[in-house]
Amino acid sequence: MTQPRKLFIKTYGCQMNVYDSERMAEALGASGYVPTDRAEDADMILLNTCHIREKAAEKVYSELGRLRPLKDANPDLKIGIAGCVAQAEGEEILRRAPVVDLVVGPQTYHRLPQMEAAARAGGRPVDTDFPEEDKFDHLPRGPRASRGPTAFLTVQEGCDKFCAFCVVPYTRGAEVSRPAERLLREARDLVARGVREITLLGQNVNGYHGAGPDGTTWSLARLVRALAEVPDLWRIRYTTSHPNDMTDDLIAAHAEVDTLMPYLHLPVQSGSDRILKAMNRKHTAADYLRLIERLRAARPDLALSGDFIVGFPGETDQDFEDTLALVRAVGYHSAFTFKYSARPGTPAAERPVLPDAELDARLQALQALITEQQRAAQQAMVGREVSVLFEKPGRLPGQWVGKSDHLHAVHATGDALERGRLARVRITASAPNSLAGVAV
Ligand code: 5AD
Ligand code: SF4
Repeated sequence: MTQPRKLFIKTYGCQMNVYDSERMAEALGASGYVPTDRAEDADMILLNTCHIREKAAEKVYSELGRLRPLKDANPDLKIGIAGCVAQAEGEEILRRAPVVDLVVGPQTYHRLPQMEAAARAGGRPVDTDFPEEDKFDHLPRGPRASRGPTAFLTVQEGCDKFCAFCVVPYTRGAEVSRPAERLLREARDLVARGVREITLLGQNVNGYHGAGPDGTTWSLARLVRALAEVPDLWRIRYTTSHPNDMTDDLIAAHAEVDTLMPYLHLPVQSGSDRILKAMNRKHTAADYLRLIERLRAARPDLALSGDFIVGFPGETDQDFEDTLALVRAVGYHSAFTFKYSARPGTPAAERPVLPDAELDARLQALQALITEQQRAAQQAMVGREVSVLFEKPGRLPGQWVGKSDHLHAVHATGDALERGRLARVRITASAPNSLAGVAV
């Protein structure tokens, strides 16, 4: 019997890429590939790439440099570039990197089996279409094997918002929502395989407007309510949301659906109205703060996280102070902070950038404030009891690691802890990035 070919996928960027990488493995599974976690053993290496900031995109080329010797050692090895760098650069990748055998964008990876065959036949296929057909309709159904207790589920892709800094509308295309029935089926499948927590994914997930089984268009709130009826699905989350799509029915769902977790990633990017306008965000800082107030009225223990860009073109000291003031007003459980990175093809890329030293200083100041808030939020959990869904054994004997409702990583000891178990844990201590406790 011939050995099955081995596939190694390295995933960069966001959670949607994590989801896509699983789907790519399934697509190539149909061509006889089995996954490996060692690049040295692979017959095919796929880099599922991110284009969001310059640093993320450049990582691809340095990784290709590292892979070169593997290719020299194994002439049968095929190397593919998938994801958003593939979409943005297409053919250019083949010119810049002779080791690359195929380039596939985020909307065409259901065609990977044919592309793989073409590459084996000596071609260098590139496919960065935005095809008519839905890739998800053309992917094989995943393996039936059991899996860990948490999973991602892409419900919406693409973005029509066109923030002035962002490549996503170009790399992922226009907003598309998957039909609700299909998502409910996929969720039930995941639950049958042991999944207890599903995070719904979309670049603009709360803008979800999918075809419902009843012939109407379903909102994200409607979808969440239907998922809440799936037996043994204990936790629902969703990410990433835009403030302008935070509708009344979704806010109400936070009050009424108890499996919808009290955690919300709601990026605002800046606290300055001048900069928000230049970013084409179409909301003010006050709009955002009012929205947070309404969300907290619906769900008082809601934990908030966000994304911030420092040094957007034209950002003054005062604009940056406004961002700090907004962060102080909100009080985040966690947040991601980024230095502005000019991306080719976006409107903001034409504008002059601030000196890098200034960006560094602002990034540090913002990070310090957010770290302080994050520590305070964690410290506030000490002495309290929280629910934890356990995912993996910890480093100490008998210890297990999982996430709380508020998405804190919790290390716990106790009897009968195991993968997929939901248990109450009394928090005893707070470390920089996690909590420790004892199952009760
Ligand atoms: N420069 C820096 N950060 C960016 N983001 C998106 N585009 C850029 C850019 N050009 C950040 C935003 C977004 C997150 C996913 O990445 O904060 O919410
Ligand atoms: Fe990166 Fe954005 Fe593409 Fe995700 S959608 S892979 S974050 S560029």
